[in-house]
Amino acid sequence: MHTTIEIESLGKQFDSPSGQWLFRNVDAQITEPTTIGVLGKSGQGKSTLLRILGRLIPPDSGIVRLNQKDISQWDPAEWRMKMSYVAQHAVMLPGSVEDNLRTVSTLHQRPFDQKHARDLLEQLYLENLDWSKPAQQLSGGEKQRLALARTLLLQPEILLLDEVTASLDALSKQAAERLLIDLHTQTGTTLIWITHDLEEARIACKRIWFMANHELHEDAPSEAFFHAPQTVAAKDFLHNQKTMVVAAEEGH
Ligand SMILES: Nc1ncnc2c1ncn2[C@@H]1O[C@H](COP(=O)(O)OP(=O)(O)OP(=O)(O)O)[C@@H](O)[C@H]1O
Ligand SMILES: [Mg+2]
Repeated sequence: MHTTIEIESLGKQFDSPSGQWLFRNVDAQITEPTTIGVLGKSGQGKSTLLRILGRLIPPDSGIVRLNQKDISQWDPAEWRMKMSYVAQHAVMLPGSVEDNLRTVSTLHQRPFDQKHARDLLEQLYLENLDWSKPAQQLSGGEKQRLALARTLLLQPEILLLDEVTASLDALSKQAAERLLIDLHTQTGTTLIWITHDLEEARIACKRIWFMANHELHEDAPSEAFFHAPQTVAAKDFLHNQKTMVVAAEEGH
């Protein structure tokens, strides 16, 4: 049986006393393995939504169910094993590269699979990484890939990816994208993937969640979203992004 997710009337308020909603009334269902690109302007709550789904912060309204069981009925560790969040800014655990790879397995009471770890690092062009090096000393891009490998070792059924290729060079970015797409194809892992790179979303994602106007403004198959967006906000968003890409290519 595939893991299913139901999101009903989900909302999160700003912390300020005004109690304004960052987003609200988010409804969505995932009933089969898929790849979803989460798009939207900066500050629309994309990371916040994924952090709620990853059970790192609570919502202020609404319900999330995994396999028809409400979030409150799940052991938090079990929930996070099924649906794991990979952060926008990779946080290294204390210790070496190897400690980082091992600790996540230890925390989740899983045996550490060294071969799997080596395979993942190789696919992410980190085969020459010194496992005894303090993880804090890695570059931003190395940290980001190590954080991704660390989570992939847990083999979650749903991956919540927060701009995981944002600080990578072109080659490493392509490698990470290939790894994630292959993982979905081969194992049916669902990807919920925040990106500001429309090409990445187009290549990797079957469905788009577009966040704007304090809500999940469009939820559509990728093809439909990119070719015939239904709302003014989505049309403007796509138009502006395209204009910026053209300007960058022309060196403005
Ligand atoms: N813990 C928090 N307390 C208060 N405000 C927060 C908190 N987390 C996020 N916010 C606010 O919520 C808004 C949305 O933040 P979020 O990081 O979810 O946006 P985003 O869509 O992921 O943006 P970006 O594309 O820049 O990463 C921001 O204004 C942010 O300051
Ligand atoms: Mg974000």
